Amino acid sequence: MGSTAIAILGTGSFAPAQILTNEELSKRVDTSDEWIFSRTGIRERHIAAADETTAQMAAAAARIAIFDAGITAAEIDLIIVATVTPDMPMPSTACLVQHQLGVLSHAACFDLNAACSGFIYALDTAWAMLSSGRYRHALIIGAERMSTIVDWEDRTTCVLFGDGAGAVVLGPARGTAQIIGTKLYAEGAHANLLCIPQAGYNLVEAALGRQHRPRTIKMKGREIFKNAVREMEQAAREILTHHQIDASEIDCIIPHQANLRIIAAIGQHLKLPPERFFVNLERYGNTSAASIPLALDEARSTGRIKPGDTTLLIAFGAGLTYGSALVRW
Ligand code: ACO
Repeated sequence: MGSTAIAILGTGSFAPAQILTNEELSKRVDTSDEWIFSRTGIRERHIAAADETTAQMAAAAARIAIFDAGITAAEIDLIIVATVTPDMPMPSTACLVQHQLGVLSHAACFDLNAACSGFIYALDTAWAMLSSGRYRHALIIGAERMSTIVDWEDRTTCVLFGDGAGAVVLGPARGTAQIIGTKLYAEGAHANLLCIPQAGYNLVEAALGRQHRPRTIKMKGREIFKNAVREMEQAAREILTHHQIDASEIDCIIPHQANLRIIAAIGQHLKLPPERFFVNLERYGNTSAASIPLALDEARSTGRIKPGDTTLLIAFGAGLTYGSALVRW
């Protein structure tokens, strides 16, 4: 990367007040708290109210991150919103957020879709743009309203997801804090394992005699599970090797918060104790692109991440996409 060190200057997050517990879910579909918790580690998730749009949640998280960074909205010249649940196909959620925050018109604003890896993809993109010297402060947000794309009659998926947003502000490093590295991957050959089939795909399926609810998540859970473990482990190993950092030197690992068993398996493979991982999925479920920045903000505000710490972020999602980032605080 370029000569200017870039760091995360501030973090913020937002979760809707409304909570949907496993108990409540078990009244809607044939499931139980015992099944969901033992298979996933999830107890409850937040569900957005009608006025808690993706842009509203993104802006709420962003305001906290901007305050935490000690800058003003006017100093931001790049906004990237990672989401698979934009409020509209156009304009981008980032433009809606820009307007809500009062970020000036010289700021570049766009959305990015890398599913649950979206935050790592956005971090990589913004880091490159800031390192070029052409942008100074970037607002990176992962925001999702997964409740709008879940099939609430499909017990195999509706128990997994939740709504929320997390944001970070990137800018010139002020001390020893900096982004050390990022690495992105994609396996388009496995696109069908996790997707939201739309019109063209549905026509093909209908011709084959198969039908499902349009515009909702379809997932092959077991294959996703296996790929998630293998690919997040690969992403972790390769970035550590590249930067000549031993896994034992990582103070805190923030993995994509999809399933506690996936995280436990990665810990076993990397020979790292469970305490080294920050996990909050019990209270949020899988919030897709919001999951890592939401966890990051909670880890900072609860003192789990301290100045001088080195954190490893690892993500995995539809695409299949995956990736990693090494961040010093
Ligand atoms: N409640 C009760 N029973 C259920 C439920 C439920 N909610 N869902 C499925 N079952 C049943 C199945 O019907 C099946 O029954 P059968 O044996 O009679 O056929 C049985 O439970 C076992 O089903 P499996 O799918 O084999 O269960 P598994 O142990 O694999 O767990 C799970 C399923 C939790 C989805 C797991 O595969 C998983 O976590 N996969 C990864 C999912 C994931 O992380 N997705 C997101 C990653 S990317 C992104 O974040 C967008």
